[in-house]
Amino acid sequence: MKTGGFVILVALVGALGGLLFGYDTGVISGAILYIQPAFSLTTGEKEFVISIVLIGAMLGAFFAGGASDQFGRRTTLISAGILFSIGALGSAFAPPPSITILAIARFVVGLAIGLSSVTAPLYISEAAPAATRGALVSLYQWAITIGILGAQLVDYALASAKNWELMLGLAIVPSLLLVIGMLAMPESPRWLIAHGRRDDGVTVLRRTRPANEVPGALEDIETSLHVQEGTWRDLFKPDVRKALVIGIGLAVLQQITGINTVIYYGPQIFKLAGFSSDAVALLATIGVGAINVLLTLVAIAFIDRLGRKPLLYAGVTGMMLSLFALAWAFSSGGSGSRGTVTVASLMVYVGCFAFSLGPIVWLLISEIYPLRIRGRAMAIATLSNWAANFAVSLVFLSMIDAFGTTATFAIYGVMCVVTLVFVRFMVPETKAQELESISFRPRTT
Ligand code: BGC
Repeated sequence: MKTGGFVILVALVGALGGLLFGYDTGVISGAILYIQPAFSLTTGEKEFVISIVLIGAMLGAFFAGGASDQFGRRTTLISAGILFSIGALGSAFAPPPSITILAIARFVVGLAIGLSSVTAPLYISEAAPAATRGALVSLYQWAITIGILGAQLVDYALASAKNWELMLGLAIVPSLLLVIGMLAMPESPRWLIAHGRRDDGVTVLRRTRPANEVPGALEDIETSLHVQEGTWRDLFKPDVRKALVIGIGLAVLQQITGINTVIYYGPQIFKLAGFSSDAVALLATIGVGAINVLLTLVAIAFIDRLGRKPLLYAGVTGMMLSLFALAWAFSSGGSGSRGTVTVASLMVYVGCFAFSLGPIVWLLISEIYPLRIRGRAMAIATLSNWAANFAVSLVFLSMIDAFGTTATFAIYGVMCVVTLVFVRFMVPETKAQELESISFRPRTT
């Protein structure tokens, strides 16, 4: 197989981790409607069953750092695939009325999501040649969006049968594909070389990039290894600290600009805007999911040509404008145009996220850290992403109660302004550079 084709295959298999991330976080909104009566859940238990996935994801992200640095990216992804499979089967076969098995299974799914959300983008980023790395890591985000849309469609299709078991259980298919696929894929060449397996690393470099690029890539990797062995403490050395702040900042901003209020609460938002029928609100949400998938292709097409920062400026500006339009639509009382403006603004908002903050946050946090501590540093950024996701999802409905819909969306709009300033002054452009020349490296001492 040609090197270009092979590296796309590597990225696609790694991206299955993203597909499962999207499916498993998306599917619960529809499934919970039928889980609740089946298990006679109280409101508290219902919130627990939903949020335990995010708690598992935080823990999984935390462990993913050490695991992927120590045991390798490939082994960690295979383990994530096994956990995804156990979680899918466990939740599909959880016997009511006790919620114990269901809760444990959802927690295991969360662990798997956390592990793969650190390791999959990292694995793809390290396997990719510099010139196409942006597009290849964006495939991961594309897979997330396909997973979310897939979950929405499955929820819709199985709603009349109230088949929550199948909704949750279907995740077994991509889970097994991830395990089998990763067994056939090579380890990251950078990880191999960092662990003294130079020859194996060179073999993988030869399979993933044109022959004339191999010596340069190898030299860059080896030079970057002349620094001290990475430890958790290295993360706080001055040079790395700046990269850490950038990664955490981006990861948190991706969430506090409100994306998951739309992804998780889409039907509720459409109903607030005056769509009275459940079916129409659900279909509008599926429309938003489809825009999310389609517009991620824009990032894949342009990210390596235009660069990361121009796409971030354009996308986050579009998100900001559509959030202010949404705030305005909700402030204009029950006027007839409100529904149309809401739908249009939400589509523009999600579309702009899809080609900017969505893929580029995962890409940048897989690019900006030095090899020795990359797994651990990415784990901290990803953990912050999950924690912010958890906080925003938890307080969204209370924010609407406390401040009203207009103020809530306006606050997310202001967060977009903060993001633009952060990108302007903090974020480096990483287009077409080998990972080793991007890193804020700890100095040799
Ligand atoms: C975010 C998720 C979000 C998804 C939407 C991802 O990049 O991390 O929180 O649900 O994009 O497409």
